[in-house]
Order: sequence, then C-alpha cells, then structure tokens
Amino acid sequence: MTNLSSNGTVSYDVVDRIAWVRFNRPDKRNCMSPTLNQDMMEVLHELEFRDDVGVLVLTGEGTAFSAGMDLKEYFRETEAKGLGATRQAQRESYGWWRRLRWYQKPTIAMVNGWCFGGAYGPLFACDLAFAADEAQFGLSEINWGILPGGGATKIAVELLPFRKAMYHAIMGENVDGKTAAEWGLVNESLPLDKLKDRVTEVANVLLKKNPVALKATKDAIRRVSVLSYDDAEEYLVRMQEAANSYDNDGRKEGIKQFIDDKTYKPGLGAYDKSKQGA
Ligand code: COA
Repeated sequence: MTNLSSNGTVSYDVVDRIAWVRFNRPDKRNCMSPTLNQDMMEVLHELEFRDDVGVLVLTGEGTAFSAGMDLKEYFRETEAKGLGATRQAQRESYGWWRRLRWYQKPTIAMVNGWCFGGAYGPLFACDLAFAADEAQFGLSEINWGILPGGGATKIAVELLPFRKAMYHAIMGENVDGKTAAEWGLVNESLPLDKLKDRVTEVANVLLKKNPVALKATKDAIRRVSVLSYDDAEEYLVRMQEAANSYDNDGRKEGIKQFIDDKTYKPGLGAYDKSKQGA
C-alpha cells in the first residue's frame, strides 16, 4: 500500500522490511521545496525506529531522482520573505539530510534519473548509492549563477579527486550513471530496468546483518575520516563497547556459530541472527 506524506510530496511503502521512500513531485522533477523538505523529515521520522523496517531506499517518482532545490519555492519565494524564512528553509533541508546521514537503519540512494545540485545532499547522506546508467548527475549551480551550496561543494570534494571535483563544479557539465560510478559518486551503475532488482538484492544482504553492528559500522565510517589515527582507534573501541550495551549477545553468537557449531564462515557471509537467544 502506498502512503503519502501530509502534503503528498513524498510517497512510501514498506515491503518485506525495505522502506521505499520516493520524492513525489514528478511534474517538477522532484525538486526540493520547503514543503517537500518538511514532508521528508516527517516520513524519515515515521520510519526510523519501526520494527518492520530494516533498510531505507530513497528514490524518485518519474524521470528524476531530484532536480535539486526548487528555484522558485526554495530560493525566490523564500528569499522574498526575508532572512528568517531563508534560514528556516535551510534548516529544514539540511536538517533531513543530517537526519538521513546518521539514520538508525542502513540507507540506499536509488538514483533513477536527474540528480542535480542540492540532491547531492541526500545522495551523500545515504550509506550506499546505485544509479541507472541513464541517470544524469550535475552541479548545475554554476549554470544559473551560484556556488554549489547546501553541502554540495563539500560532497564533491569528499567523493571526488580534486581535479574531477573542480571540473565538475566549474564546468556545469553532467555525467551519466556509468561515469558517476567510475568517479565514486555512486557504488554501481546499471541499466534502469535492472536497478530496482539490484537494490533489492543489496538491501536483502543488509537485512541479514546484525542491526546494532550495522549502525555502529556506518557511523564509524563517516566519523573516522576526520579523526587522527589514535583518536579513531579510541573511538572504535568505545563505539564497540557502546554497541555491546545494546546487543552483547550478537557477536558471541557469531563466534559460536563459526567456532563451535561450524554452520557458517564469517569470511563468506553473515551468521544466522534468528538463532540468537534461542
Ligand atoms: N526548481 C524549480 N522548478 C523546477 C526545477 C527546479 N530545480 N527543476 C524542474 N523544475 C520544473 C520546471 O520549471 C518545469 O515546471 P513547469 O512544468 O511548471 O514549467 C517542470 O519542473 C518540468 O521541468 P522541465 O525543465 O520541463 O523538465 P525536463 O525533463 O525537460 O528537464 C531538467 C529536466 C532537470 C534538466 C530541468 O528541469 C532542469 O534543468 N532543472 C533544474 C536543475 C537545477 O539546476 N537544479 C538546481 C540545483 S541547486
């Protein structure tokens, strides 16, 4: 059953523990208006701690993933209302991207089509990203006269080597899904008609992993990049100990099924969570 956010700008359904969340302004190429940003926060909030959700996939209805910020509603109309409205609109968009970056569940961006500017925020916020070969990625800001804001410049530099980031930002040329995968903007690119099956396959692998370990791991990958080696080492010790306070049995069961029961090999797949506590 498809659900709609309060204002209908986001749609979602949950199937077999995968939450499929869609930007739902296909007529506007899913560009992000203040209303959409509020709706998306509402949907992320609704889904984050539900027991029937193990993975969240973010994608778009129609031909776009998202054509970035809404030039009319997010920029022109908000600015016309003054600085307070501008700052509020920024808080709301940056706010749901931040919520998504540190989301409790693993997240996958499924880039089905156009992906511009501000859409790099949610793209980067998702832990993994898969694109259609046919998708188009662009930092189009330079084409309409601003710098890539809302984190987009930072994301380009995080994900791309210096020369590629600079070219991408100042030339305003698009790259397709295949090039985005070669550059590291996404994990993989494949034909649009195969995209959903591949994302489902990846989500199903994630669903088999220990959820406490997944949350600790995805946060660690984001945090350690700005830490010194010694600080990272310390952080990882403390984070594992914190994870143990949520689930002290998972790793013991993982060791047992390998060493004692010999029912799986960690090098080749995940232990059977369903036997934990049995
Ligand atoms: N802000 C506001 N409106 C947008 C928009 C955006 N970022 N992107 C698309 N739209 C609107 C169009 O104005 C148009 O509205 P209308 O039907 O009322 O005229 C509608 O969405 C469809 O867009 P259109 O340009 O006709 O679709 P297309 O399939 O031919 O082209 C794009 C798709 C994405 C290439 C083109 O819409 C585009 O360049 N969008 C802007 C991308 C961008 O620079 N985003 C800003 C990043 S910060």
